[in-house]
Amino acid sequence: MTVFLTGGAGFIGSHTALVLLEAGHDVVVYDNLSNASRESLNRVEQLTGQRIEFIAGDIRDGQHLDRVFAERDIDAVVHFAGLKAVGESTEQPLAYYDNNVAGTLSLCNAMDRADIRTLVFSSSATVYAESREMPLSEQAPTGRPTNPYGSSKLMIEWLLADLQQADPRWSIALLRYFNPVGAHESGRIGEDPQGRPNNLLPFISQVAVGRLPELAVYGSDYPTRDGTGIRDYIHVMDLAAGHLAALKAIEGTNGLHTWNLGTGQGYSVLEMIQAFEQAADRDIAYRLVERRPGDVAECWADASRAARDLGWRAERGLEEIMRDAWRWQSQNPNGFRG
Ligand code: NAD
Ligand code: UD1
Repeated sequence: MTVFLTGGAGFIGSHTALVLLEAGHDVVVYDNLSNASRESLNRVEQLTGQRIEFIAGDIRDGQHLDRVFAERDIDAVVHFAGLKAVGESTEQPLAYYDNNVAGTLSLCNAMDRADIRTLVFSSSATVYAESREMPLSEQAPTGRPTNPYGSSKLMIEWLLADLQQADPRWSIALLRYFNPVGAHESGRIGEDPQGRPNNLLPFISQVAVGRLPELAVYGSDYPTRDGTGIRDYIHVMDLAAGHLAALKAIEGTNGLHTWNLGTGQGYSVLEMIQAFEQAADRDIAYRLVERRPGDVAECWADASRAARDLGWRAERGLEEIMRDAWRWQSQNPNGFRG
């Protein structure tokens, strides 16, 4: 299969490109490099010994997509491209709706014109309504997201569901990621946030290498086992394997499927700090502070539908997550910049 990855130079896209190449597929990456560097793909090529076709472009540029699709034989699209910083989305909602929602619309129109109708979309557990009932299955109600980033993900899910209903030739997978973390076991590719990290594990990693002085733990009075927030952290290589499984499952079929990609196991912030300290053999300075607005106490997946339908489950545990995250961060203290 030839798979077209929008946003394929980014964190999850680059790991998925590697897994697809290793499974014998051809990979075309389309990315505007607004939050990634070409170096991630150079390294995937070094690791696999295979070539990736890279095209610099923006998913909002429909005419460019038309030319790109006309010149190649694309079988399926995995759509990672978009903006993902929750805080920034509240300050720049138009940029988020433009890149994420209008970008997806432009992509789907171009796919339709080119007769490509197999699509895997990067959604998020953020679409679920706040709930006291854990774990979250795909049947759990979706909510009113607390920020434009989350709203954009839910709007795209609706758009894709409407599209598939109107034209049953489409085959679409909505993959709801829980918290993607970790890095490829080589330490050559990993998450490389620009500026101050928003997410927990990149923040801990940067404290560990001395780029940041200490971690602020957002809230210690949640109704959880140690008072800190609980999440379902999934190794990015397991997540990448989930994309391969989803592509295999939907190829040559019609329909819309929603799958949670999580581990089914939650860990608290303090448990994450402790596990990282063990893997890196160093202390992480942290301070307990106020809750972060918009955070929920706990969130973890019921991952049984993906296990049943795709034969996929997350295989890597917390120790491997921390070991690989630390290998990436310690070998590349400044990410792809060295
Ligand atoms: P990332 O920022 O590393 O990757 C996104 C890529 O898309 C980047 O390479 C960026 O340059 C590119 N891009 C952005 N706008 C574009 C546009 N208009 N045209 C072309 N390329 C564009 O993020 P990631 O962590 O790899 O996330 C991938 C996808 O998964 C995103 O859609 C994100 O919302 C979703 N997701 C991520 C997480 C997470 O915690 N990382 C969780 C849930 C869902
Ligand atoms: C966040 C986003 C969510 C998005 C997901 C993946 C918010 C409110 N939610 O989820 O929409 O889909 O990232 O990109 O931003 N924590 C700290 N200190 C920190 C950072 C985080 O204590 O410096 C805590 C948080 O309070 C939370 C846990 O660590 O309990 C995980 O946080 P984070 O990595 O930001 O992910 P989520 O909040 O789950």
